[in-house]
Amino acid sequence: MPPVRPLLNPNTLAQFVDPLPILDVARSTEFRPSPLDPAVRLPYYRFAMRQIESKVHRDIKPTRFWGFGSSSPGPTIETRSGQGVLVEWANELPTAHFLPIDHSIHGAESDKPDVRAVIHLHGAKAPPESDGYPENWSVPGKSAVYHYPNNQDATMLWYHDHTLGINRLNVVAGLLGVFLVRDPVEDSLNLPSGKHEIPLVIYDRMFDEQGQLYYPVSGDPRTPWVPEFFGDAILVNGKLFPHLEVEARRYRFRVLNGANGRFFHLSLSSGQTFHQIGTDQGLLPAPVSLDHVLLAPSERADLIVDFSDHAGEQIVVKNDAFTVMQFRVARNKAKDTSSLPSALRPVPRISESEATNTRTLSLVEIDDRAQRPITMLLNGAHWKMPVTENPALNSVEIWNLVNLTDDSHPIHLHLVRFQILDRRRFEPFFYKNEGVLKYTGAPVPPDPNEAGWKDTVRADPGMVTRIIVRFEGFAGRYVWHCHILEHEDNEMMRPYDVVAAR
Ligand code: C2O
Ligand code: CU
Ligand code: CU
Repeated sequence: MPPVRPLLNPNTLAQFVDPLPILDVARSTEFRPSPLDPAVRLPYYRFAMRQIESKVHRDIKPTRFWGFGSSSPGPTIETRSGQGVLVEWANELPTAHFLPIDHSIHGAESDKPDVRAVIHLHGAKAPPESDGYPENWSVPGKSAVYHYPNNQDATMLWYHDHTLGINRLNVVAGLLGVFLVRDPVEDSLNLPSGKHEIPLVIYDRMFDEQGQLYYPVSGDPRTPWVPEFFGDAILVNGKLFPHLEVEARRYRFRVLNGANGRFFHLSLSSGQTFHQIGTDQGLLPAPVSLDHVLLAPSERADLIVDFSDHAGEQIVVKNDAFTVMQFRVARNKAKDTSSLPSALRPVPRISESEATNTRTLSLVEIDDRAQRPITMLLNGAHWKMPVTENPALNSVEIWNLVNLTDDSHPIHLHLVRFQILDRRRFEPFFYKNEGVLKYTGAPVPPDPNEAGWKDTVRADPGMVTRIIVRFEGFAGRYVWHCHILEHEDNEMMRPYDVVAAR
């Protein structure tokens, strides 16, 4: 066992001394033929995964990260709906990992190279060969060119590592970034844009006293995996306690929970309300007024915050008791020609009568005799077992996510967008023993800010969460999983097949 290094206590640091980094927007360097039609040429980006150093705080020495080019989060890719792009994900990482690999976990056995990476574009309607299947990893010196057709509505996607068995470590190391899709509906709304539209990528980390990333280990050196990771340092766009100078006007913040396991519950110290205008897969039908927003790992919130009544104030973004960042509002009221329309984008409900199949899928935690979790499973199945979820292309299905654990699990399906039907309390012991769902409460509709297109849903403990999904876009092999990365890495992920009609 390596000794536990002395850890940094973020509460000893000065707050709001660093400006919030504004993520760079990537530029494509060339055009290359589309794999679908060589006459069409698509913007081509090369993203090199590299070991870099970056300062997370004025008073912390540079931290080693794995980023894209020279940053973590990597540069933002911006494109338009229907405008395909090609991205070369090049693994230029060193050959040794700096975080603790658990070789007892599927896909991370000692015969596998320590450093492997495969990038998935979360929320993309991408062909299977470009989806970043967890077993399609590349070693240092290799790369993969992926095609993203982007035939989907405007929204905020994000790219991140998805390597089988070490995904949690590669993401903590820094392999993540933002991908924005825009479209004419969004254009027509006159939302705050340009320097008044800012992605905020929020995640928690742990640092040692030398300013290096620390990832915890279990007490057993043969199985260092821990069931969850919660850091005490919350970074926004890669900085700890940043501040942002804002004008006294409306802003649009594209917020991503990029944490491995932490749920964020964000509010403003001014007590002011703000509006959520979009969720994972795009705009909501209408703005939802909130005084806090709950984001599970990988969920996104498209927020409008109006500072016009707060000129001269300093407003802190809080995550419950934690301090996240600060807004410094300019003294003078600014001119603001943007709008917050009362109607955004219709979200036609998928009718339950369209569903041709309903699957009941349990979320299970397996504990050892000391009640320590040793693995997490979807419907009792391991990654390597034969595919059991095989919806037909273009069919609609209802998935009942039956949570038999004590925790909330953010469940994500690749390729598709879906709607939440409801959540309903049930009797877990009766289900475990009899295999029958006995409901003990009435169905609870999704929260107003969840009532749009989603790709990740909180499956809360003691509840059956029902989602309705149209499996459209491509046939082929994808995955669905819990987005708590420690769970996903330890079996809470399954392959699924979208099956083309024969
Ligand atoms: Cu955010 Cu399977 O991924
Ligand atoms: Cu995904
Ligand atoms: Cu989970």
